[in-house]
Amino acid sequence: MAKVLVATEKPFAKAAVEKIKALVEEAGFEFALLEKYTDKSQLLDAVKDATALIVRSDKVTREVLDAAKELKIVVRAGAGYDNLDLEACTEKGIVAMNTPGQNSNAVAELALGMMVFMARNKFNGTAGTELRGKTLGIHAYGNVGYYVAKIAKGFGMDVYAFDPFVAKEKIEADGVKAVDSVEELYSTCQYVSLHIPANEHTKKSINKELAGKMPSNAVLVNTARKEVIDEESLLELMEERNDFTYISDIAPDNAAFVEKFADRVFFTPKKMGAQTAEANINAGVAAAKQIIAFINDGDETFRVNK
Ligand code: 3PG
Repeated sequence: MAKVLVATEKPFAKAAVEKIKALVEEAGFEFALLEKYTDKSQLLDAVKDATALIVRSDKVTREVLDAAKELKIVVRAGAGYDNLDLEACTEKGIVAMNTPGQNSNAVAELALGMMVFMARNKFNGTAGTELRGKTLGIHAYGNVGYYVAKIAKGFGMDVYAFDPFVAKEKIEADGVKAVDSVEELYSTCQYVSLHIPANEHTKKSINKELAGKMPSNAVLVNTARKEVIDEESLLELMEERNDFTYISDIAPDNAAFVEKFADRVFFTPKKMGAQTAEANINAGVAAAKQIIAFINDGDETFRVNK
């Protein structure tokens, strides 16, 4: 009998786990759960006899795949799949998938929530500023970017986007101004919200040179990945510009951000963009359905490795 393992260091909401379990068992497969594991050895042990694996940001390395002798498919319940070793998956004939769009609204709500929090001086009671009428640049117009634009327009923000992989017409059809270059986006917008994936082209790509183009009272919002930031160079920029704010759902590695610029930074204690019951249910259920369709019908929609 095929065994579907949900292995999440950061657990899904209980309701999501129940729905995944029900779907898997209805399909006639075995369901297994490994949550909040603290050591890699627990994951290595749990994957031994799994046919299918559902993870979140859990690292699915070559070592994990070596231990997973029966594995046919791994689904990252979420958007970014930088935690999967795709090359090793392909070598071993394992299908890798993500669940695009399923948790995007949750991430977008957090991005706007953090913007309000900082604009109101971390709710400390002093007079802050409003988002209405401010420029917002969306760096990469995928599923999260789309929701950020939609919500930001509700706030009355003036929304711009840059994405070389999305047709300008599609962006503009949403009432968002599509700009021609990343430099133009940063030099136009007081707020910039990052929605780029972490890959060989984007790692450390957000640096002093680019972010330094932002107008006065700049706010850089990162709900993407910490790896896309060149931390040393952003620290230099924050040193030079006392009007620059950095807020992120993923705390940077360098402690100097908090030590030196406490008032101009905010970092969530643990990555929580997709931490809502709705997002967990959407992404978890989509992952389970994709696995069932793959095992039963060979359906490879949403495959991300070749
Ligand atoms: C994603 O890529 O889908 C988000 O970053 C969410 O990641 P998480 O499932 O680890 O919260």
